[in-house]
Amino acid sequence: MATDKIYIFDTTLRDGEQVPGCKLNTKEKIEIALALEALGVDIIEAGFPISSPGDFESVSEIARVIRNASVCGLSRAVLKDIECAAEALKHARRPRIHTGIGTSDYHIKAKFNSTREEILERAIQCVKWARNFTDDVEFYAEDAGRTDNDYLARVVEAVIKAGATTVNIPDTTGYCLPQQYGEKMALLINRVPNIDKARLSCHCHNDLGLATANSIAGVMNGARQIECTINGLGERAGNTALEEVVMVIRQHPDLGLHTDIRAEELNPISRLVSDTMRMPVQPNKAIVGANAFSHSSGIHQDGFLKDAQTYEIIRPEEVGADISKIVLTARSGRSALAYRFRNLGFDYNRNDIDVLYDTFLQVADTKKEVTDADLAEMASQYQQRLTTVS
Ligand code: KIV
Ligand code: ZN
Repeated sequence: MATDKIYIFDTTLRDGEQVPGCKLNTKEKIEIALALEALGVDIIEAGFPISSPGDFESVSEIARVIRNASVCGLSRAVLKDIECAAEALKHARRPRIHTGIGTSDYHIKAKFNSTREEILERAIQCVKWARNFTDDVEFYAEDAGRTDNDYLARVVEAVIKAGATTVNIPDTTGYCLPQQYGEKMALLINRVPNIDKARLSCHCHNDLGLATANSIAGVMNGARQIECTINGLGERAGNTALEEVVMVIRQHPDLGLHTDIRAEELNPISRLVSDTMRMPVQPNKAIVGANAFSHSSGIHQDGFLKDAQTYEIIRPEEVGADISKIVLTARSGRSALAYRFRNLGFDYNRNDIDVLYDTFLQVADTKKEVTDADLAEMASQYQQRLTTVS
């Protein structure tokens, strides 16, 4: 069945790098950009060129080395920002300028002390200006999640008319419910007359833990680009995690969607980003956390050892993770114990395991996890016992 492509726009090097402590130098950014290209992302947002000379240099160097993906630079709706982004991108094979302005009343009044009409004019002006430098212009309506839908529809129509080829609908504060965010996309698709001339994009933050759900709701309602980061890094609680949306789309062919991401690269790039940014991944993180493929309770271990699909919807090798782990704790059962002994070369029968299981529980109650060294010690003591008895 033919499926619609979802374009993956990675912003690890821009929204992700804004996280305190995650600052990267140009060399590190180039290494990550090359890994993102190898992963198969469609657009790499390389930075915010006007923000600092270092960021300008990084965007410019990334623009030189990237061959297939589009390279994007962020700007405010300020003419000199746009010129600076264009300059940084001048060696890119596929340059994209991402420009925009806040459209919610919070932004219009508190941030800009302005009016809806003035902001609409600035939006049009910045898109027109960016189009002087590239045909690939993305407009962001910052805080679109809390923007009045009638006004948002007017802004979207106007920026498409001015030349925007992608329109980003950010849920900047992570406020929306999936249904609301999906309805916003559906409303824009149904109401904006020139919507067929541009691609709508989801850019969701995770303040309520809904970034992935909201992005999926967005594409289920017609958006065709998702903006995301490796490991879900980003301002405050982070952005939509790339690995999560990619795997949701893969696990649900019924959505009729696909991405061009090489899923087997997801764990390697997660480790690269975590090591380079010195930002550990939480162990229970979906797809790339250390516990994503480990089983520790007896009921789960028993089912998993009979048929992995009872407790795993993804094979670890599909996403480049290490093989599934059977972790031994005081909650583990006999089949897990027998399995771990077998891996160490001890093929015990049921009676042996019954005896060893009592010893195992005593050890397990004193520790968080029973290791191979503990098992080897138990096996040696058990052998001595058998020798003494016979
Ligand atoms: O969250 C947001 O609104 C942004 C824009 C600058 C795209 O990051
Ligand atoms: Zn953002």
